Amino acid sequence: MAESGVNGSGTVGIGMIGCGTVGGGVARLLAEQSALYQSRLGGKRLELRRVLVRDVAKAKGTGLVAPALLTADADAFFATPDMPIVVEVAGGRGAVSQHFRRALEASKHVVTANKSLLSAEGPALFALARARGASIAFEASCGGGIPIMTALQFGLMANRIEAVLGILNGTCNYILTEMVQRAKPYATALKEAQEKGFAEADPTLDVSGRDAAQKLAVLASLAFGAHVDGEQVGAEGIDKLDVADIHFAREMGYTIKLLAIGQRAGDGLSLRVAPCFVPDALPLAQVHGSFNALSVYGHANGHTFYYGRGAGQMPTASAVVSDVINVASGWYPRAFASMNLWCDRQPPVKLVDPAQQSSRFYLRVNAKDVPGVMGKISTMLGDAGISIAGISQREVSVGKFVPVVITTHQAKLGAVRDALARIKALDATDGDPVCIRIIDMPEG
Ligand code: NAP
Ligand code: HSE
Repeated sequence: MAESGVNGSGTVGIGMIGCGTVGGGVARLLAEQSALYQSRLGGKRLELRRVLVRDVAKAKGTGLVAPALLTADADAFFATPDMPIVVEVAGGRGAVSQHFRRALEASKHVVTANKSLLSAEGPALFALARARGASIAFEASCGGGIPIMTALQFGLMANRIEAVLGILNGTCNYILTEMVQRAKPYATALKEAQEKGFAEADPTLDVSGRDAAQKLAVLASLAFGAHVDGEQVGAEGIDKLDVADIHFAREMGYTIKLLAIGQRAGDGLSLRVAPCFVPDALPLAQVHGSFNALSVYGHANGHTFYYGRGAGQMPTASAVVSDVINVASGWYPRAFASMNLWCDRQPPVKLVDPAQQSSRFYLRVNAKDVPGVMGKISTMLGDAGISIAGISQREVSVGKFVPVVITTHQAKLGAVRDALARIKALDATDGDPVCIRIIDMPEG
């Protein structure tokens, strides 16, 4: 009989933790494409052996996996024989982190979609995997079905990566697209994103920008060869965006996108997630719905662009199952053991202060419609060394105030914030001024 396991030629048993949106897709692919994967693996067969969930009755109700495979008992799950691969598609930390570690302790290879866990506990988990002769594959943790991790880990290995920039959250991109193209209210678009299976169990993670910040941390660790703690990546979300700014952006030839931006800055890195004005002529402005896209700038091959579905059941399951196949074939565990690509062997990174980073900016100030106010605002910007590219007062009144819309030339974020604090203190202005970066793609 053929030997089982990733080094043998027989059946490779798979355990799965979690059976929700992504887990259901993984179970479906393993069931429906069994013959294709067996052929690609030169005869090795993949078999889902056990599925750990919290609520068996709920999972049975979905009809996604055979009821006999389901258990809520972690001991029973880990006692399942001949199960060298564990797919973790539960999400979050806490108990899931314990299960993850238990799988690695038992020298099982783990395939995961969990950027929250990797961005916080990555170095310890990767070191544990290495110590136990296991591996961690995590293509699904960023970019959904786009094979961006494979590109960074292997396809771009000859390059020193200078910058990564893109759309990494499908929920936010779906919401922004529906607001712009179909004039849907924010809350309606968010509810739809949840119903379609794009959002996290706690959608605050999506709309606050934290999910994209966790993904940027995981990507940056690979791209820049330095460990990045997800908590240290600053994030602004789309939850505080005013629909007025979405419309002004459209009028001015821009589209607002939630961008994750990572670039080398001196001996450190600049990492940031924030809504940005993207010129309509750039490909990123044409990325709609749940699609994600990422530009990577390598020193040798310049700009490469990756585009595809960034969230949802089957695109994400595609990334997970591709990892399962790579692990089951035996090549990925060998690469993991012998190469120096993962965050357990990388030094912690120095993150530069975003206030010191330059960009062009869109600013909006609500001002009293009285003589001299535009002059005061432009003088305060000028005094701070901020050069105005365009300024106009709109004939739309917000209460007793009218929006003054400004675009700047390159300026430091810190200087812009200081000037806006002084403008906010004027009697002739109302509320918090709005400040959004305007993106120019790096050359490459
Ligand atoms: P989901 O639909 O909420 O499913 C989560 C599943 O995990 C449920 O079956 C849940 O069981 C189970 N679970 C949660 N905590 C558990 C625990 N402590 N022990 C055992 N089972 C547990 O979530 P999802 O959308 O599939 O996302 C799963 C993972 O994939 C997350 O890390 C997410 O960030 C990532 N991801 C999702 C997408 C997407 O488009 N949805 C895309 C890329 C990556 P109960 O129902 O019994 O609680
Ligand atoms: N909630 C995430 C998103 C899932 O919307 O992008 C994919 O990681």
